Amino acid sequence: MFKDDLLKNKAILITGGGTGIGKEMGYKFGKLGAKIAILGRREDVLKDTAEKFTNEGIDAIFHRCDVRSPEEISRAFDYFVSKFGRIDILVNNAAGNFASPFEELSPHAIDAVIGIVLHGTLYMTLEAGKRWISNSQKGVVLDIVTTYAWTGSAFVVPSAAAKAGVLATVRSLAVEWARYGIRHVAIAPGPFPTDATRKNLFPLPGMEEALINRVPLGRAGTMEEISNLAAYLVSDEASFINGEVVTIDGGEWLKGAGQFNDLLQLTKEQWEMLKSISKKK
Ligand code: HXC
Ligand code: NAP
Repeated sequence: MFKDDLLKNKAILITGGGTGIGKEMGYKFGKLGAKIAILGRREDVLKDTAEKFTNEGIDAIFHRCDVRSPEEISRAFDYFVSKFGRIDILVNNAAGNFASPFEELSPHAIDAVIGIVLHGTLYMTLEAGKRWISNSQKGVVLDIVTTYAWTGSAFVVPSAAAKAGVLATVRSLAVEWARYGIRHVAIAPGPFPTDATRKNLFPLPGMEEALINRVPLGRAGTMEEISNLAAYLVSDEASFINGEVVTIDGGEWLKGAGQFNDLLQLTKEQWEMLKSISKKK
């Protein structure tokens, strides 16, 4: 689908790049010629992923960092820049989330999710942007949000509130920082089952299947599909896309939105009956 050198000479920093979607995007970017820097809280996980990338011929480095800490972020950037010379593209992918009735959450639980998703994304973007602006360097920020950033969703309120804030940031900075040559884009994935979503969001039997049944295309997304979209959006081929969020969900959120979408359940006979009643004789 892409030229092999689509991302050649680009240094791409991915938060939460040791696992799940972040890891898959890193692999795809690396195969397209990018140098990959990943960060997260678990050093062993990062080391393992970076080694896998290196064994595949990808120039990959890692640094332990909690995105809730501006000091740790600054140190991680210093390390990555000392190795790669600069960072060209930032992917804010790290997240924390779990399903719970809102009334059962503690303030600390709310802070944990909002701290990672909203504050973490803003701190990372601030650090990258300050460096780009002071060096007169262009940049791209890709934020991974969700479709409930604009619909909201029961039982994941801190995550929904934080992702909505991230999306507002994308649309705000797309305008504010365009004058510095910094683009902002976002991806809103539907279900892409990962170890983390299975553990935190659909751990009970039948939950994952039920989620996938909501998707009009009848399946979950694949890592290849989301990685291809990400590679395009961060590449120079997408250089006029700024402030946009691209949904990749098989039509899931729209199915929930349309008032008549439940008519999908009607049989052929029921449609005939409906027509015989409603159509002018
Ligand atoms: C209620 C919970 C809880 C749960 C933790 N807490 N899990 N409350 N239900 N299931 C509470 C704790 O009791 C504590 O509050 C507070 O949250 C912080 O917990 P810690 O474990 O100390 O926090 P921390 O180590 O910072 O971990 C953050 C985390 C954790 C968010 C709680 O789950 C995490 O690290 N997640 C990272 C991976 C992840 O979540 N990936 C999923 C992304 S998927 P008290 O008051 O007791 O101290 C995604 C997809 C969306 O976003 C769409 C899918 C279709
Ligand atoms: P994941 O594997 O849990 O990825 C999250 C990553 O973030 C982990 O590598 C984790 O590593 C890191 N992380 C968490 N807290 C951190 C912190 N405080 N500082 C630094 N790193 C931190 O989950 P995923 O499913 O791949 O999700 C990736 C992104 O896609 C998230 O933004 C998620 O909201 C979004 N998304 C996913 C789906 C889906 O179906 N999978 C759907 C919609 C949106 P450590 O624990 O080692 O820190």
